[in-house]
Amino acid sequence: MQIYNNEAQKQYSYMEEMKEWVKAQEERLGRPLTCHITTFGCQMNEKDSEKLLGVLETIGYRQTDTEYADLVLFNTCTVRENANTKLYGHLGHVKKAKEQNPEMIIGLCGCMMQEEQVVEKIRKSYPFVDLIFGTHNIFKLAELLKARADSGGMIVDIWKDTDQIVEDLPSDRKFSFKCGVNIMFGCNNFCSYCIVPYVRGRERSRKPEDIIREIEGLVQEGVREVMLLGQNVNSYGKNLDEPVSFAQLLQKIEQIEGLARIRFMTPHPKDLSDELIEVMASSKKICRHMHLPVQSGSSRILKKMNRHYTKESYLALAEKIKEKIPGIAMTTDIIVGFPGETEEDFEETLDVVRKVKFDSAYTFVYSKRTGTPAASMEDQVEPEVVKKRFSRLLEVIKESSKDNRKDGIGKEEEVLVEEKNTHEDGMVTGRLSNNILVHFKGDESLIGQLVRVKITEEKGFYYMGEQVNG
Ligand code: 5AD
Ligand code: SF4
Repeated sequence: MQIYNNEAQKQYSYMEEMKEWVKAQEERLGRPLTCHITTFGCQMNEKDSEKLLGVLETIGYRQTDTEYADLVLFNTCTVRENANTKLYGHLGHVKKAKEQNPEMIIGLCGCMMQEEQVVEKIRKSYPFVDLIFGTHNIFKLAELLKARADSGGMIVDIWKDTDQIVEDLPSDRKFSFKCGVNIMFGCNNFCSYCIVPYVRGRERSRKPEDIIREIEGLVQEGVREVMLLGQNVNSYGKNLDEPVSFAQLLQKIEQIEGLARIRFMTPHPKDLSDELIEVMASSKKICRHMHLPVQSGSSRILKKMNRHYTKESYLALAEKIKEKIPGIAMTTDIIVGFPGETEEDFEETLDVVRKVKFDSAYTFVYSKRTGTPAASMEDQVEPEVVKKRFSRLLEVIKESSKDNRKDGIGKEEEVLVEEKNTHEDGMVTGRLSNNILVHFKGDESLIGQLVRVKITEEKGFYYMGEQVNG
């Protein structure tokens, strides 16, 4: 069952009611009401926060950049322990802010709130929190705020799972020229270290026509680049009434006039199809970048991680991608110190990094997540050992990315300009199709435009360049 317009209409009517409430508060206080959202975690969460902000702005709140606001929302992450720790630090700060502004509303939502023990702790130790909701019901923000306004007490609403996808709610975009687009929600993979399937629920895909309609609307508003978001985009569309593959979805999106670039994340190596590689190879819009998390280079550890591929099959896949899509940049995620990881296992990871020559990699120290199978595995690796392996890994990644960078020098390529350079006046920063940043001389008027740039110098993880005409 998917609910579309009815739920959205219901939420719009709550937004109307809350608009009145905000107006009344503003009249009483003689000033505008402000809001702030602090987002932890991945791009999925960033996207959710844009939707939350869309609702808050519709209601009449004005966004401010500090946590000293009339309404503060924390969109939380729980993928690693340090994401949780960070939240409690922020809560300490807003507690003080609320002492100065007792009518302040503090809300918590997102992945961490899907964990029962977290919600218990907040109820007990952080009673000044007004609103707690999870990942499955973020579309209900206006309704929950209304409940809070009516009752004055703490509102907790967590759903264990859902099959609902609510379309057509407001969203506030962070960038005018690029935008994340959810194509699916949830994850069915159950990698043994990962908490995501427990907090984001089972896989649900949006219908292709809803995705296309959203992107067409974005393009009309000036968006040039979309990032298609899903926990495992390769399994997009499998459970739709009329199944559509991810590669077929990409082909449909390619046809949207005015859209210049398509990115996606994250594909799982276990089911990355030849069809997808072919579609990418012949596409003019899909960017030359593949983020393909390897997690470990040891087949033994990969098995314990429940990843369903081996070192050899990953290497063969990476080889095929590079051969069929020349110039593609490959990036990855790597976990160091998974339970039972030996020196030999770690060497295998280094070997994969050297062989694939990743352009960059997100590296993580294994973090034990309660409730996942890996949390109860024996042989948790000593923190000291993990620390040393972690810095060795960074060195190897740095070398391989520097090597790749050299190949780019002298080339002329299109860059989507993203912002003014924060370090140097008169410079702007943009992104190549392969996702690498380039700094070059230019002014603000270029932001959001595709310009041709000649790459002149490599600086490790980024380039310097010069704009060329024509
Ligand atoms: N510990 C460390 N890293 C993790 N990731 C997911 N779960 C854990 C964990 N328990 C990393 C994986 C994933 C990325 C989003 O986060 O590398 O690809
Ligand atoms: Fe994203 Fe996973 Fe963190 Fe949730 S737990 S915010 S899905 S990284």
